[in-house]
Amino acid sequence: MRKLLVTGGAGFIGSAFIRLTLAEDPSVHIVNLDKLTYAGNLENLETVVHSTNYRFVHGDVCDEALVDAVFRDEQPDAIVHFAAESHVDRSIFAPSPVFETNLRGTFTLLEAARRHRIARYLQVSTDEVYGSLDTPLEAGEDFPLNPSSPYSASKAGADLLARSYFLTYKLPVIITRASNNYGPYHFPEKLIPLMISNALEDRPLPVYGDGMQVRDWLFVDDHCRGIRAALEHGRAGEIYNIGGNLSLPNLEVIRRILRATGKPDSLIQYVTDRPGHDRRYALSSEKLQRETGWEPQVAFDDGLALTVDWYRRHSAWVARVRSGEYLTYYARNYENRDELRTVIDARSD
Ligand code: NAD
Ligand code: TYD
Repeated sequence: MRKLLVTGGAGFIGSAFIRLTLAEDPSVHIVNLDKLTYAGNLENLETVVHSTNYRFVHGDVCDEALVDAVFRDEQPDAIVHFAAESHVDRSIFAPSPVFETNLRGTFTLLEAARRHRIARYLQVSTDEVYGSLDTPLEAGEDFPLNPSSPYSASKAGADLLARSYFLTYKLPVIITRASNNYGPYHFPEKLIPLMISNALEDRPLPVYGDGMQVRDWLFVDDHCRGIRAALEHGRAGEIYNIGGNLSLPNLEVIRRILRATGKPDSLIQYVTDRPGHDRRYALSSEKLQRETGWEPQVAFDDGLALTVDWYRRHSAWVARVRSGEYLTYYARNYENRDELRTVIDARSD
């Protein structure tokens, strides 16, 4: 019987990881520590909430006393640390919570993991730490870190901190760096869920700049299987990239969404670009494949069709998520976008 402490398990990827892990491994116990920020939603865990192998703890990963109590009471064998402020656009408007959660939160967990001699610490990171890559470069795990946004800089900092705990204290740290995820329960502020939910409601699809920025797309369950593979079979102190092996320009993704939703290209609306916008991400996951046998199983068009279908069937979930604070965020990010730079310079958050 093994016990996992998952942080940020009420978010998009963390909840997918919990659902998948409990379904695939009846012997595992999961404790989910989540602050329930705007991105955390217990509805994402409705299918597991009654499982005797699952427990929820409401709290902040920066809360040292709480984190220590969770480690002491639950005695987890491993921690999978998802909790983060995860959105680049929000990190541009309001960097403070990004650095607090992504850096101090990681530090607090590493300290607790060290004190309680945890057997595995898995840091969930992102390909954005490598920054924008010229064609035809692909980032391997030893590629230099060159983050562009407050979000990616905080993730790169957290990676370096986690790695230092392996080198200095021999804490058995593994870092995974995944590409852009998509799938059900994705908060509609990121490209794919935003474009699907806007298209389904015949609202404009806001394309930053020329729309030719390239991202590597990974179905969320493939990411979660990659994390499970790294946790089970990865080597302590190592970094593993997890990508979908499919790079697409944003406009191509948006056109495929329009086809899948049966909506016209006229919904596309070009808007002022994101400051510091990375042009292209690309990464090699050859190391994880070679060492663990993992490979992505879901082809992009299949994953997209499944995701569009999920959003069609979950309009009530979307409506609940797209209310309150979301409306303030949406207006701030998308209305008067030409004035974005002024707003950012004024730091009016
Ligand atoms: P998300 O924004 O959907 O969810 C984040 C979760 O963390 C939420 O449940 C939120 O309540 C919780 N949280 C935030 N601050 C917290 C705090 N201080 N204490 C406790 N809980 C807190 O994020 P996601 O898209 O599921 O991303 C999860 C992780 O995966 C992040 O570390 C992110 O950097 C990484 N990642 C994401 C992607 C992607 O495409 N979304 C790709 C690669 C890596
Ligand atoms: P996003 O989902 O925010 O992920 P990231 O910036 O972390 O890769 O954005 C993916 C791409 O889509 C990125 O190039 C920015 C672009 N984008 C838009 O063009 N319009 C939008 O409204 C959003 C949210 C993103």
